[in-house]
Amino acid sequence: MRWLILGGSGQIGEALAARLRARGEPVAATYRTRPPQVPGVESLPWVKGGPTELPWERLRPDVVIDAASLRWVDYCETHPEEAERVNRAGTLRAARGARTVGARYLLISTDYVFGAPTPAPHPESERPEPRCVYARTLRAAETDLLAEDDRAVVLRTSTVYSWRPQDLLEAPGRPARPNFATWLVGELNAGRSPRVVVDQVSAPTYAPDLAEAIEALAARPSAVGIFHATGATALSRYDWAVRLLESIGAPTAPVVPVLTPSLGQAAPRPSNSTLGLARLTRETGRSMPDLTDQLRRWASAVGARA
Ligand SMILES: NC(=O)c1ccc[n+]([C@@H]2O[C@H](COP(=O)([O-])OP(=O)(O)OC[C@H]3O[C@@H](n4cnc5c(N)ncnc54)[C@H](OP(=O)(O)O)[C@@H]3O)[C@@H](O)[C@H]2O)c1
Repeated sequence: MRWLILGGSGQIGEALAARLRARGEPVAATYRTRPPQVPGVESLPWVKGGPTELPWERLRPDVVIDAASLRWVDYCETHPEEAERVNRAGTLRAARGARTVGARYLLISTDYVFGAPTPAPHPESERPEPRCVYARTLRAAETDLLAEDDRAVVLRTSTVYSWRPQDLLEAPGRPARPNFATWLVGELNAGRSPRVVVDQVSAPTYAPDLAEAIEALAARPSAVGIFHATGATALSRYDWAVRLLESIGAPTAPVVPVLTPSLGQAAPRPSNSTLGLARLTRETGRSMPDLTDQLRRWASAVGARA
């Protein structure tokens, strides 16, 4: 199967590319500012929502994984037009291009589409109520995509992490925007006391586990429509921070528990965005790993590259 990963230099895209290349699968991957660091991947600069079309006829992928949406929630809130252009219009345009060569399209979407305080876990069948620009633009992309393409997949995930110290550094056109786990370690290493919320609950997802779920769904033509894939453990952001630090033997005392309003964030966050995973398990016959299992592997990645 020929794979095209949009956003192949991001944490999800790179985890998937590494998994596929380890088995010798042909992989092309787009990037915006920095090529993916996975050997054997054909990398292409491309801006989602920009003027340049991807070379569909040359690439002729069987499957396209779209992990290239603007995911910075507060940035989207203050840049709604850019969020709409990238997340909604850019997704639709890329999906239409993929269809010209018969490729299946899998969009990575977000648990934040469940913005209302309805009971969690949220099943795939629940009607989303996005309450921030990021989630609204991705929900619109989901709806547009599924209305046009009955082979498409929307895969919602949550609080994805891995160990990516390179994301702590700024680069031209690319601000330092590490995932939460990498940010947390960076804060401690810099001697700061990270303030972490106690009143937001979600299910952290280790990027390599998500890559496995993406591959399993993409390989099954019967899997169409909306799926959820997250880690199996839901907990508050603060409790997660403590577990992350304990797993690498770092002190937890510097982490300061706070309530969401004290952070003054531009975009509202769901209080509990935990997703139901039943459909993924039914379709693939696998369960997503729990936090203890994830942290063992994450801690070993941190140790290997510390
Ligand atoms: N991370 C999470 O917790 C999470 C949770 C739910 C859903 N998701 C969804 O999963 C997707 C990927 O997440 P991630 O954690 O892998 O994000 P990431 O590490 O920030 O990677 C984003 C990727 O998209 C590229 N990109 C960003 N803006 C682009 C644009 N305008 N045009 C083309 N490429 C662009 C980036 O390229 P450069 O790095 O080269 O600039 C990078 O390859 C996002 O679409 C997000 O909405 C993520």
